Amino acid sequence: MGEKANKSKKDMTVFRPPEDFAENAIVNDPDIYRKAEDDPEGFWEENANSIHWYRKWDSVLEWEPPHSKWFIGGKLNACYNCLDANIEKRANKTALIWEAESGEIRKYTYRELLEEVCRLSNVLKEAGVKKGDIVTIYLPMIPEVIISMLACARIGAPHSVVFAAFSGDSLATRIGNANSKVLITCDGYSRRGKVVEQKNKVDEGIRSCGLVEKVIVVKHGGNEISMMKERDVWWHEIMKDSDISCEPEVMDSEDMLFLMYTSGTTGKPKGIVHTTGGYMVATHTTTKLVFDLKEEDIYWCTADCGWITGHSYLVYGPLSNGTTLVAYEGAPDYPDKDRYWDIIERHKVTILYTAPTAIRTFMKWGVSWPQMHDISTLRLIGSVGEPINPGAWLWYHENIGMGKCPIVDTWWQTETGMIMISPLPGVTTTKPGSATMPLPGIKAAVLDEKGNEVAPGQDGYLAILKPWPSMVRTVFGNEERFIETYWSKWDNKTYFAGDGAKRDEDGYFWIIGRVDDVIKVSGHRIGSAEFESIMVSHPSVAEAGVVGKEDELRGEVIYCYVTLKSGAQESEELKKELRGYAEKNIGPFARPKQIIFSDDLPKTRSGKIMRRVLKAIANEKDPGDVTTLQDPSVVDMLKQKTKELESS
Ligand code: WTA
Repeated sequence: MGEKANKSKKDMTVFRPPEDFAENAIVNDPDIYRKAEDDPEGFWEENANSIHWYRKWDSVLEWEPPHSKWFIGGKLNACYNCLDANIEKRANKTALIWEAESGEIRKYTYRELLEEVCRLSNVLKEAGVKKGDIVTIYLPMIPEVIISMLACARIGAPHSVVFAAFSGDSLATRIGNANSKVLITCDGYSRRGKVVEQKNKVDEGIRSCGLVEKVIVVKHGGNEISMMKERDVWWHEIMKDSDISCEPEVMDSEDMLFLMYTSGTTGKPKGIVHTTGGYMVATHTTTKLVFDLKEEDIYWCTADCGWITGHSYLVYGPLSNGTTLVAYEGAPDYPDKDRYWDIIERHKVTILYTAPTAIRTFMKWGVSWPQMHDISTLRLIGSVGEPINPGAWLWYHENIGMGKCPIVDTWWQTETGMIMISPLPGVTTTKPGSATMPLPGIKAAVLDEKGNEVAPGQDGYLAILKPWPSMVRTVFGNEERFIETYWSKWDNKTYFAGDGAKRDEDGYFWIIGRVDDVIKVSGHRIGSAEFESIMVSHPSVAEAGVVGKEDELRGEVIYCYVTLKSGAQESEELKKELRGYAEKNIGPFARPKQIIFSDDLPKTRSGKIMRRVLKAIANEKDPGDVTTLQDPSVVDMLKQKTKELESS
């Protein structure tokens, strides 16, 4: 291991920040790392001074492991920071350039966005939403999703955005957990020119949960829907006469700003709780430093607001910096495979933040597509969501960054709220495939099972050793799970990220991927257990074991091993049906690549399915010691079946 790392170190191409970039960068003095290390609280405090507070904090941090409070006693409003705070200097600056798949473009200045947000804030208040009530938002990537998030923040109602492609059932589970009485959704939306129904999914999904009292419906897809009297109202009708001003609620630094559900290792999604002060300071600061944001930048983050990246680096971070955002609601290959490059050319995008899966897809499509456009306005490009392989990194560097744009490969999570490990583009020498170093103020390490730091080149677990402002505060309604998942691997002071990693001899971090039962398909997080519990709800399925198989394009794809109930017949139709079942009950991104029928699954003597063994089988790796299995012969049988699939 060590030898290999040495060798690759010698051969490694490294990229220093281009001189002209570094010269003009917001950060070009590496001393920032030392200063922050010497006094992390001082570092965050200094940055906290660049956002707006109604009342400043009494103290920066209270750390009672594993609980932290940041900027204690401070009062602020996240929406005020994103909009009102920009009015004096940038009222007429474009805040948002939104483009639909159809080509429709809508632009909002900061003033216009503020007015729309205030209108909706008043509508929500009218509907009875009070400070602390959780509002669920189930919208595709349209301006209304941003307006909704900010309107909630304005009135102190935490939002819970549910990814639009999730199923109605997934929506209902999240609504139920958050006890949400108001929902914002739309009739439908278009993908690759076809209308996808949204409101119908809502009606079906929430029928059984009976909680929702008000549904606000954006007219967007234009498809026929039914409106339930009293419960459902059209967005455009209620917004029409609503007032364009609304006082923001004064929020405590530790008041909840939003909930974001994410997959974990058990059957139920976890509601990750983020609070206001620390989150705003963290996202404001990291957006500015990592993306080197300048007044004239046109910044495009391709993430959807249904995921954490859309929260931190599409809404709260960029808007609180007064940035001009680009958002696109559609497929990257519609009407053709040059859509992204066309958008960059037309809107003169200077910063692009996207995902490795997208980059690998563009690689597959070939350089002729970006070459059709003038994308020379780009000056910085970023990546997030999964490990980026050196080949894709280099392709991105050469063909999109034109060899001149620094690349920021940013490692972070729903739970961390902010980018944690990433280059600072004016300072850090990058190595393709490495997220490089923890940001100033962040202390990370690679530990072994016992909590000792591993030697360079050795695999271990990624850990965060010190609290940071936007850290997850708890799992909504499930404190036990919060402690169990993140704080019980070593001691209650060290955060377990769930990722495997190693460091090289220069101390650079190389993220390997999840070490728990979380699968990452095209950067989307899917929990094995959640998936399995859905599969076994199908009438033909007795047991299911769901694992990720490495995939060149998507990072991982889903392999679903299934035993059938007696009477059910193995058939191609049933495979198709089960794939469709997963798609319907979770979402299209969760469609299994393979369904493998089997009479038995590898289980412990107590009957627990050994996913570790299944994962090794799916990836054609050595499953290790299998003698403790109930029936070790299952392994060979499954290996054989998997092999046949690969060759068919
Ligand atoms: C993975 C997304 C390698 C990782 C912001 C993490 C990455 C999970 C990177 C969190 C990266 C994210 N390099 N792996 N640059 N960024 N990951 O919560 O496995 O959707 O634990 O947050 O994505 O996924 P989540």
